[in-house]
This record gives sequence, structure tokens and C-alpha cells, in this order.
Amino acid sequence: MQNFVFKNPTEIIFGRGSIKNISSRVPADATVLFLYGGGSIKKNGVYQQVFSALGGRTIVEFGGIEANPHYETCLEALKLVKEKKVDFILAVGGGSVVDAGKFIGAAARFGGSDPWEILTSCGSVVKSALPLGVVLTLPATGSESNGNSVVSRDATKEKLFFGSEYSFPVFSVLDPEVTFSLPSRQVRNGIVDAYVHVMEQYMTFPAAAPLQDRFAESILQTLIDVGPVTLAKLDDYDSRASFMWSATLALNNLISCGVPQDWSTHMIGHELTAFYGLAHAETLAIVMPEVWKFKLAFKKAKLEQYGHRIWKVKSATGAITKTETFFQSLGMPTHLKDYKIDADEAAEKVRARFAERGVHLGEHGDIGPNEAAAILRMCA
Ligand code: NZQ
Ligand code: ZN
Repeated sequence: MQNFVFKNPTEIIFGRGSIKNISSRVPADATVLFLYGGGSIKKNGVYQQVFSALGGRTIVEFGGIEANPHYETCLEALKLVKEKKVDFILAVGGGSVVDAGKFIGAAARFGGSDPWEILTSCGSVVKSALPLGVVLTLPATGSESNGNSVVSRDATKEKLFFGSEYSFPVFSVLDPEVTFSLPSRQVRNGIVDAYVHVMEQYMTFPAAAPLQDRFAESILQTLIDVGPVTLAKLDDYDSRASFMWSATLALNNLISCGVPQDWSTHMIGHELTAFYGLAHAETLAIVMPEVWKFKLAFKKAKLEQYGHRIWKVKSATGAITKTETFFQSLGMPTHLKDYKIDADEAAEKVRARFAERGVHLGEHGDIGPNEAAAILRMCA
């Protein structure tokens, strides 16, 4: 096992009726930015619950954060934060709203002249951020319990991420019941996103970390067990609660301790969202199986372990097939042609962009622009 530092300062408040607990977590004298998305919280009662829990605090409301939050919209919210002297951000929504809250919070304390630098530096320029609380309405990203954020610049079709120890939420409320209003497509996306998060931290090479492997496999197994149940019955509390907790644990710094990580699927996938507008998880289901095939020789040992322990198959290729079949069984397409995207065109666009940025991905840092393009051609 490699050396590691484990740090996760986020308090998780989990379960039915837990939104009321924010009243004891948000400072009584705070000026709160109440940040949300396109309006789903107004239809499912979450907006009202949050308003009541905030009581007499000064509230500055900002709605309209898009899925794959736009940099441009975050800057509008930032202006309001400065004008109204906001000192606490409460993000209420899915990963996009939470990520926007992290970016706005870091930008509010940023000393430089151009907040885009927060993203181009991957967060290294972040030295402080406004405190952030979260009410999560969509299990998927793990953003409720990590320091990462992904923001898209609409004007240039760029989607960049940053990570900072200052950007962990101070608390996150996870009430599975408020996710019952999710359409099945979002639930499907969430299951696949969480599954792929585990894989980015697992599907590399053996690293003498048996406990990490077992943690990872237990999250995968749970997603395989409860995923189809929570999709078939969108208001079943027990399966939704297990799915929600799995998604948090999939990306909260726990299973990455002491092990190599890949993340090439995510980085290539972000480009597909930026260029073609696919939902985040839709890109992952296309790219990950082909990354595995492309890197079969390097990932063989872990693919065989995963195949044997999870799917009871012997070969690495059998494990890949089982994974694709699982995604498809959730109703998730796994090829570019399913979205009428030309693989050669996508490959060339991503190759050019990665070349410009000097990108090298994967646990060995050997997936450069040409390799990413080759993987995308395999995604046809
Ligand atoms: O905007 P509203 O009206 O709230 O609707 C949202 C949105 O349209 C809707 N929704 C959310 N909760 C709902 C609901 N609809 C009905 N009932 C509810 N309870 O769902 C739609 C999608 O929401 P979004 O927040 O975009 O989804 P998700 O949580 O999947 O977040 C995706 C974003 O997170 C980034 C992705 O790249 C993408 O930008 N990621 C963030 C990560 C992180 N911070 O650690 C890691 C991930 O790998 C990922 O990259
Ligand atoms: Zn993801």
C-alpha cells in the first residue's frame, strides 16, 4: 500500500426528515446564499423545508444553476455574494448545484483577478473558501462529501475540474425521500456514475491493499444488488437509501487511500459532455469498457479479480462484457452511435484539445492525446 493522508471533514446527516437539522448547523447570524437548480426543489417540497429550517436568517436566493453548471452563471451568483456580503452557502440540489456552490465559495475568497484560474490550476490557487452546507437531492457524484467541483464554460465548450481541501462541505443532509421525485433516467445515471467512481480507484493494478479492494467490491456489489430495485420502484425507501449511501462512499476519499487511481474515463468523458452535451454518466458508460480493452494487459490482474469476485467469470474480457451488460440492463447505452456521434470526429476533437493542454492520463500517465483518440474510435 502507498503512503496516504486520509481527510474528510464533512458531517453527513442521513435519513428521513433530516433537512430540519440544518437549523442547528448553519450559524444563526449568517447571511446565507440559498443556491439551487432549475426548479425541481419547488415541485417536491424541498424548497419549503429548507426555507422553514433556515428560520429568521438572512437569505439571498439564487436559482437557475444548470446541469453541468455554467461558469457564466456562477459568476452571476458570485456578484450577488459580494454585493450582499454572503458568509455561508447552502447548495440544495444535485452534483451540479453542489459543484457550483464550491466554485462560488472558492471564487468569493480568491485573491487573483480571474476566477477561471481556479479551474485551470485544478484548484492549486485556492487558499480559502466560504463555508458550504449541502442538501443533496440526487445520489451520484459524491460531491456532498468531497472537495471536488466540475464547471463548464459555455462560451468555449470547456469542462474543467478543481479540487481543494477548502471545498469540502461542512455538512451534507442526505434524505433519500427527497430523491423519490427523480425521473428514472437520473437514477440510472446516478448508479452508473457511482459505479464508475469506484472503478477509477480500483481498476488499475494490484497494490497490496486488500481492504481497499474489499471496500470497493462491496460498493460495486451493493450497486448491482440495489440498482435494479431502486430503478424498478422509484419510491422504495430501503433500496434508495442504500444506493444513496453507496454513491457517497464511492467518492469521499475512503477507497482511494493508498491505491493507484486512473480517472481517464472521467477526463475523456468530460470532453464528450463539453462537445456533445451528453449527461456525465452517459459518457462514462461509453468510455470505460473501451479504456479497459485498450489497457487490457496492464489491468488484467484486477479485471480478473473483479470478474471472479463480482461476476463469477474467469477472464478479464468476460468481466468487461458483464459490466457492459449490467449498464445496458439499467437502460444505459454504451456506444457513441447510440447518440449519433461520429467516433472519428469525436476522437479528433478530443485529441486536439488534449494535445493543446498536454494531457496525460491513467495510472501510468500513458494515455496521451493519441491514445485517448484511439479509445474514442473504439467507442463507435
Ligand atoms: O436543476 P433541477 O431542476 O434541480 O433538476 C435537476 C437536473 O435537471 C434534476 N434533479 C436533481 N434532483 C432532483 C431532480 N429532479 C427531480 N427530483 C430531484 N430530487 O436532475 C438533473 C441533473 O442534476 P445534476 O445536478 O446535473 O446531476 P448530477 O448530480 O449527476 O451532477 C452532475 C455534475 O456533477 C459533475 C458532473 O461532471 C456534472 O457536471 N461531477 C462532479 C463530481 C464531484 N464534484 O466530485 C464527480 C463526478 O464525477 C462528476 O464529474
Ligand atoms: Zn463521475
